[in-house]
Amino acid sequence: MFKQLFNMKSYEEELKTFSWNIAKEELGYKDGDNLNIGWHCTDRICNSGKSEKLALIWEDHKGEEKRYTFDDMRVLTNTIASYLQKLGVNPGERVCLFMDKVPELYFGFLGILKMGAIAQPLFSAFGSESLLTRLENAGTTAIFTQKKHLPKVRNIVAKLPSLKYILVVDDDGVKPLREGEYSFKMEQEEKVYDFEVYPSKAETPSVLHYTSGTTGQPKGAQHVHYSIISQYITAKYVLDLKDDDIYWCTADPGWVTGTSYGIIGAWSNGVTQCVMDAGFTAENWYKFIEKHKISMWYSAPTAIRALMKEGKDIVKKFDLSSLRHLCSIGEPLNAEAVIWSEEVFGLPFLDTYWQTETGSMMVSNYPGMKVKPGSMGKPFPGIEVTVVDLQTHLPLEKRGIVGMIAAKPGWPAMFRAYWNNEATYKKKFENGWYLCGDRASIDEEGYFWFVGRDDDVINTAGHLVGPFEIESALLEHPAVAESAVVGKPDPMNMEVVKAFVALKPGFEPTKMQELEIMNFIRKKLSPLAMPQEIEFVDKLPKTRSGKIMRRVLRAKEWGEEIGDISTLENDM
Ligand code: PRX
Repeated sequence: MFKQLFNMKSYEEELKTFSWNIAKEELGYKDGDNLNIGWHCTDRICNSGKSEKLALIWEDHKGEEKRYTFDDMRVLTNTIASYLQKLGVNPGERVCLFMDKVPELYFGFLGILKMGAIAQPLFSAFGSESLLTRLENAGTTAIFTQKKHLPKVRNIVAKLPSLKYILVVDDDGVKPLREGEYSFKMEQEEKVYDFEVYPSKAETPSVLHYTSGTTGQPKGAQHVHYSIISQYITAKYVLDLKDDDIYWCTADPGWVTGTSYGIIGAWSNGVTQCVMDAGFTAENWYKFIEKHKISMWYSAPTAIRALMKEGKDIVKKFDLSSLRHLCSIGEPLNAEAVIWSEEVFGLPFLDTYWQTETGSMMVSNYPGMKVKPGSMGKPFPGIEVTVVDLQTHLPLEKRGIVGMIAAKPGWPAMFRAYWNNEATYKKKFENGWYLCGDRASIDEEGYFWFVGRDDDVINTAGHLVGPFEIESALLEHPAVAESAVVGKPDPMNMEVVKAFVALKPGFEPTKMQELEIMNFIRKKLSPLAMPQEIEFVDKLPKTRSGKIMRRVLRAKEWGEEIGDISTLENDM
């Protein structure tokens, strides 16, 4: 039988021989050289003879299609870089991308890097408050956005003294732009064929991705140009990207998967990728795969569960024979989903595990390696990953015991800081390990099995939501006296947000009130952060020192043991 040849040797073989130098050599990079992600994903690919190869096939919900070669992308990213430079944006300044999945988002990201600024992608469904927190923290200088999102920026611009340039990529001139707002039409600008790329080095800051924690506001995980070494080689080995692949990463570049693998991993490998800027339906997705003959598909468990819900029959309506390799990221991939995908696509979804902070894959299933459905796989060669004791944070010698996932710092894509938050950054390291904050166990064969998060962060449909950010926003609602936010189980999204709310005197716990508060959060923060349920309570469980015990509320939602509540001040 035909045996597929993968980019990676067998896992065991790779463990013995792997070195990051392989990636460096393939990228033509030597320590100390200039290193710029924007250049590597465009100019270098063109220089290798692929100028006319398709880099991006883009489609929107109306079925409008745009296609760009690597040379088109090189020129357009130059044009963006040069525009920013002329505008007065300096290297090292933060430039936010606040757009749907339009081509300007992808090329804007690389253009920003080419002129030495730091790209700060933010999910376009964020409301003004979510945007404000992150732009304020980053001291952002410029923001790319679309007409439809401009009102959210206008709402907060007065509170952001460092935000000097608001660039609207699709202005139609119908309503006048205000001071500080500029119409930037990527394809109508005078093209810049040659641009002197900023001479960034390995440790020059590149990307700032905001991620949520248990306490405090979201933190900006700051990455450097050197991350490309990890992203290039993991995309090549785990996603198995090859020259003739048509690749589809379904993630939005507002989140790390959409940049590490939806931009850098794919294009540094010179691979053609497809982007669909449209909402989800099973029919649309299958049609998209069939139409563009997608061969490599990187998606997420929530999407896979949504496809499973639509059943097997619909799959038969499409020719999906182009698919040859599937991977998943972001949340636990249940064994049923792996088995289902084998049945309907003839291929298992291979789970990968990593984080915003890690910048690239840490633990994965590899092409050719035995899949144990439900397991996240094994550490990427070149990265030491283990589980440490939950209390001492020292590696667990015995297999099969649940501990916290921890990794030895040193892989190229690891984040270098939380922006303006050194104290929190330092807390992530102990005994020489980076603590991932997730619980897992390792079996006798070295496979990792995810158990859950070790903190209060909620993972809804693969997106992390911080309870503190939602609780703070809830307090701004006139009816809310206090609140506690936890994740509750959900068959489709794994978890959804649930809020426990104590109302101020004079407010009634009615359905109307619940809907009103939900809507308040949706607008202020995002649809992801909106509680799917609000339970009105007279008081919240607190420790004697007055700290709200989310743990108690969460345990009730999950039907788990509540554990030690001896410090509880009041009974529920
Ligand atoms: O809790 C883990 C979960 O998602 C977290 C990272 O989220 P974020 O920084 O937003 O990055 C997501 C995409 C890289 C992890 O700490 N997670 C990620 N992958 C998996 C997972 N949980 C279970 N299985 C996975 N494969």
